Amino acid sequence: MSRITLSRFLIEQQRSANLLPAELRFLIETVARACKAISHAVNKGALAGVLGEAGTGNIQGEAQKKLDVIANDVLLEANEWGGSLAGMASEEMDLPYAIPGQYPKGAYLLLFDPLDGSSNIDVNISVGTIFSVLRCPDGVTEPTEADFLQPGSRQVAAGYTLYGPQTMLVLTVGNGVNGFTLDRETGSFVLTHPGMQVPAETREFAINMSNQRHWEAPVQRYIGELLAGATGPRGKDYNMRCVGAMAAEVHRILVRGGVFLYPKDGAERPGKLRLLYEANPMAFLVEQAGGAATDGRERILDIVPTELHQRVAVCLGAREEVDVVTRYHAA
Ligand code: AHG
Ligand code: MN
Ligand code: MN
Ligand code: MN
Repeated sequence: MSRITLSRFLIEQQRSANLLPAELRFLIETVARACKAISHAVNKGALAGVLGEAGTGNIQGEAQKKLDVIANDVLLEANEWGGSLAGMASEEMDLPYAIPGQYPKGAYLLLFDPLDGSSNIDVNISVGTIFSVLRCPDGVTEPTEADFLQPGSRQVAAGYTLYGPQTMLVLTVGNGVNGFTLDRETGSFVLTHPGMQVPAETREFAINMSNQRHWEAPVQRYIGELLAGATGPRGKDYNMRCVGAMAAEVHRILVRGGVFLYPKDGAERPGKLRLLYEANPMAFLVEQAGGAATDGRERILDIVPTELHQRVAVCLGAREEVDVVTRYHAA
């Protein structure tokens, strides 16, 4: 059987499911091409002098790594000229990026976390790129921050590229979740993981335990019950894995199941992860794969954002586990 490349897959989606206007297909292919360039930079590492700090900070209050900045620039340059976008927003930019005047504008908004898990980069552990696509509100050609503040349920596409032992792009256009592996010899993303599914049950969880003192009572109770193992209320032993890159945590869950939590981690903020370019795209993917995603109280995709860089608590993955966490918050 011939191999299904990302291009062929997208064209077939356009024909059969009628989910994919040509402009959106072009946009996804452009993001994929940018991710290949990021993958090359990530793979070269110290050989290309791309590791370490950039010496600048972002609006998140984080020190930017060189690769945070490089990946952001690659995504902007790849996507600004194609005519399918009205604007872009990124973890690494304070304000939305306006499409330069010499280029045509399109119907979509692209939001991204250019390099997810950047604390992993200098130690050669997986990092990723996360992206989300929204429609630009009708009649708007110069989108402002307010135009990006749409609930995640309005996403028309979302995905991530994971730069791990293999580079993989995992995508949804609202019709299930499909995974593509980069074939470095041909330069194509090839469909290797069709119809990815999150099993409803699991014995594996991911959370940064060092924040335990900041968690609220429902999360303390839930994790305590998992740690209690087979003799505890859940009646089974759980294993823990935590990579420190949401793209890798979600990928593990899409491949072999599990649950990932990033709850409230301090007095001042609800959690670390950003709603628009981390939680929403991942929630869309996980739901499309049959899993669930809440902030402990409500469905992530129903949250109406009030700020571009808004943070949110996240609990996603196996439906059974997310239901328990959400029930404990309601109790
Ligand atoms: P980013 O590198 O894009 O700022 O995001 C990192 C995020 C997320 O990917 C990960 O789950 C989490 O931060 C890890 O943070 P901690 O090290 O605080 O657990
Ligand atoms: Mn960051
Ligand atoms: Mn991130
Ligand atoms: Mn990032």
